[in-house]
Amino acid sequence: MNDGDPVAQLTEHQAKAELARLAVEIRLADQAYYQEDDPYLSDADYDALRRRNAAIETRFPHLKRRDSPSDRVGADSASGFGKITHGTAMLSLDNAFTDEDVIEFSRRVRRFLGLADDAPLELTAEPKIDGLSLSLTYERGRLIQAATRGNGLVGEDVSANARAVEDIPETLSGAGWPDRIEIRGEVYMTHTAFAQLNAREEAAGRKTFANPRNAAAGSLRQLDPAITRARPLNFFAYAWGEVSAAFAPTQKAAMAAFKAWGLRTNPLFASHDSLPGLIAAYHALAAQRAQLGYDIDGVVYKVNRLDWQARLGQASRAPRWAIAHKFPAERAVTRLEAIDLQVGRTGALTPVARLAPVTVGGVVVSNATLHNENEIARLDVRPGDDVEIQRAGDVIPQILRVINPDRSGRPAAFAMPQTCPECGSAALRETDEKGDVDVRRRCTGGLICPAQIIARLKHFVSRKALDIDGIGARQIELFYRRGVVSAPQHLFQLPARIEQAGLTPLQTWEGFGETSVGNLLAAIDRHREVPFARFLNGLGIRHVGETTAGLLARTYVSWASFWGDVTAAAEAPGCDAELQLLSMDGVGQTAVDSLKAFAAEPHNREMLDALLAEIRVLDGAAPRSDSPVAGKIVVFSGTLDTMTRDEAKARATALGAKVSGSVSAKTNILVAGPGAGSKLTKAETLGVTVLTEAEWLDLISTG
Ligand code: IVH
Repeated sequence: MNDGDPVAQLTEHQAKAELARLAVEIRLADQAYYQEDDPYLSDADYDALRRRNAAIETRFPHLKRRDSPSDRVGADSASGFGKITHGTAMLSLDNAFTDEDVIEFSRRVRRFLGLADDAPLELTAEPKIDGLSLSLTYERGRLIQAATRGNGLVGEDVSANARAVEDIPETLSGAGWPDRIEIRGEVYMTHTAFAQLNAREEAAGRKTFANPRNAAAGSLRQLDPAITRARPLNFFAYAWGEVSAAFAPTQKAAMAAFKAWGLRTNPLFASHDSLPGLIAAYHALAAQRAQLGYDIDGVVYKVNRLDWQARLGQASRAPRWAIAHKFPAERAVTRLEAIDLQVGRTGALTPVARLAPVTVGGVVVSNATLHNENEIARLDVRPGDDVEIQRAGDVIPQILRVINPDRSGRPAAFAMPQTCPECGSAALRETDEKGDVDVRRRCTGGLICPAQIIARLKHFVSRKALDIDGIGARQIELFYRRGVVSAPQHLFQLPARIEQAGLTPLQTWEGFGETSVGNLLAAIDRHREVPFARFLNGLGIRHVGETTAGLLARTYVSWASFWGDVTAAAEAPGCDAELQLLSMDGVGQTAVDSLKAFAAEPHNREMLDALLAEIRVLDGAAPRSDSPVAGKIVVFSGTLDTMTRDEAKARATALGAKVSGSVSAKTNILVAGPGAGSKLTKAETLGVTVLTEAEWLDLISTG
């Protein structure tokens, strides 16, 4: 059977087999195109596969598969996996790099909980597995679904593949499990399995994997569970998400419960009641690392008591009750071939080291960041030098030092240009209001600098902004070079702009075909409604990144009211609208100034108007609008008895309140403990509701 066999001559049996083959082939091609940005089929070949699939389905409608490629348009589902919203977010961990960072972590925990320096504080230590996290949902002890981390809130449904992992039980054994529980842990590949897999890949003439983590990720995200089964993966359970009932009082007891239910937990998990014990455990694990047979990249410490974990809660993306103590990064020596300059979204000129390729910790490295001109001067690094580089986890490799034994005959020291290498505009080091000179040189070309325009557009479509599948760096560069797209709104006018530019339709362009253009335009159309936070982040306003954008979206909810305040603040600095922006914990003067500067530029306003004629900004989700203090501006003053100030603020924020540092007419509630002083007087004058700590606790417990 081959692609050329006419559909009309297929027997039913052959047709069924052929549909199965096409489903896999088309998915793999979609994945390469949309997710790996690395298509291996020409558009014509890809279209031929889809046409053949459709023709067979027309002839044998009853054989159409549940996962038929014809039901998938566009990229979201083209990945082949459905989406699963996690019951509670899958968080990441803060990092500690030194013993001092760990001591500081323990101080922070004590301060937050109000514990004395010598009060007992039990912490657990366990290896940080270098794999990918997975959330398993068990209902009445049965595995009902498995999801990857995704963006932390929504992951991909990899249930079928998780069932192919031996360490993941279909049903929990023993007793005492909550009716519903999200069990979280790490999927990883052992060194042995990795070596065997790569040997097989090589023998088959396929690409090998750079490291076990990539191999584990690639294997778990296989569309065909049979392939996953053929690539042995393992799983350690170490945490949980949503649970229908509490099941343990401590982390240690939770691990014991997992084990009793038939899940694998790491045998090196232990608890310690002193910091020296904890740090000794770290060094012991570092020494054992090479013999474990799987990759670990540090040690995770967790507060053992779960009631304390609950009180500590989480900051924006990581729990306050845990920290990852990372192992030192891996290092290697190579030759610096050249220093290039990259111009970023905000015009910053970043020197990039081009290196002779070298393997560091299993990954081939050929670029390293040099940050800025001060860094180059500090290292005194020049092309031709031998340099020591280091790579830690996913961060961009760095140059540590020059190790030339002989420094004679080197080229002159690198000098940053005074003009932008991309557009020729002046490149300046800015001075801030305190008189400090920025370490980075920035191109002043703004909207005339192609590098900045392209970088902004790439940011606009990137994963953390609009996340338009099928439009990545390559497409943006192509559209820009052909004069089709130079501002975000142009993406939503693609066919018309192509026509206006006097070009042939997109379908006729090299690398594009009927189907991929259809998918692309459908993907763009799906993004005509954009969540507030993603939209704001996508605008790429300096100092207003993902976190600030999220905060503003949750607080303002409506784009119109937010943008109204920003324009008002730009027109009348110091007005109420500006104070309202500044009253938010986490939004500082720098971010507000940057928003004002953006809004004050006529061309930015024009761009926004044009963009908003194409798309609609969806309301941001208000946090916990069901809580009695949601949206209220709260100020704490004086001493609190049952909790520390940090804890009080964190709980209020988690319930959707905005915590402010000072009392104004906009304040809704002042929680006043003994010694509240001038804030209390001011609140009374302004008629702000004043609550005691007990009254406040009463109020929030009704939520
Ligand atoms: S605890 C809420 N324990 O590291 C905290 N994470 O860098 C849940 N990881 O996203 C995480 N080994 O994927 C925990 N023993 C361990 C871990 C571990 C690996 C991963 C996890 C997390 C990432 C953060």
